[in-house]
Amino acid sequence: MNVIDEAKLREHFAHPPEDLSLDDIDLGRIPRHVSFIMDGNGRWAQERGYERAYGHVKGVDALREAITTAVRLGVDVLSAYAFSTENWRRPQQEVELLMGLFARTMLAELPLFHQEHVRLRFLGDLEAMPADTRAAFEEGLAETESYDRMTVALAVNYGSRAELTRAARLVAQEVAAGRLAPEDVDEEAVASRLYTAGLPDPELLVRTSGELRLSNYLLWQLAYSEFYVTDIYWPDFDKWEFLRAVRAFQRRDRRFGGVKA
Ligand code: FPP
Repeated sequence: MNVIDEAKLREHFAHPPEDLSLDDIDLGRIPRHVSFIMDGNGRWAQERGYERAYGHVKGVDALREAITTAVRLGVDVLSAYAFSTENWRRPQQEVELLMGLFARTMLAELPLFHQEHVRLRFLGDLEAMPADTRAAFEEGLAETESYDRMTVALAVNYGSRAELTRAARLVAQEVAAGRLAPEDVDEEAVASRLYTAGLPDPELLVRTSGELRLSNYLLWQLAYSEFYVTDIYWPDFDKWEFLRAVRAFQRRDRRFGGVKA
């Protein structure tokens, strides 16, 4: 569990832009799990005359800032969509570049995970990843497994339909083996076989670059989440944008299908 260090929080959010103040945020109602669809790296780069690759490099900087901000705000879980099962269809050069970037980033960012006691998890099928990327991810998992302040869950080679299909297959295998009765197949039986098993559902989903789509991301887990979409491209998503998203979340009236209390 992540406990807010108020001194570090105030230091992190010193000198806010005019429209924003930490005083607008109720520190007792920070979303436990914030999830990000990090969209717009390519467009950010192209609009500035750079190669798309540079957008992904800047995207890593934005992810690092989001992780630090989440730690400071007392978030328990930060998840982010880094690579979908559909992203293999991108030009081979871009796929290779992303895989190399993932491996290097993982190893380069490990000191941050150690410093802040952040545990790493992956959502998705890592078997299909290139050997060096997978090895870097496994090193990250092993080195951070004892930390419990905050969890960073990176969705890599992830697709929600593939995840739900896998869960259905696992349930079917248990039933066929006689270890699970069909009448005991309930929501918990499904949830515990998803990649997110044991994690709370996201309370807030942030999507950058203005697209109003879920793109096969956490379809089960986002059932009751609040959505926050910003036109900002992911490389420009900084701690102030994060604070704006939390402020918008806290202004919503969450009812979970019921009526207002
Ligand atoms: C979407 O932009 C972004 C991605 C496909 C990659 C995001 C990955 C990171 C920021 C690095 C994550 C790090 C690790 C270690 C897993 P886009 O290319 O879809 O942009 P566009 O919509 O403008 O084309």
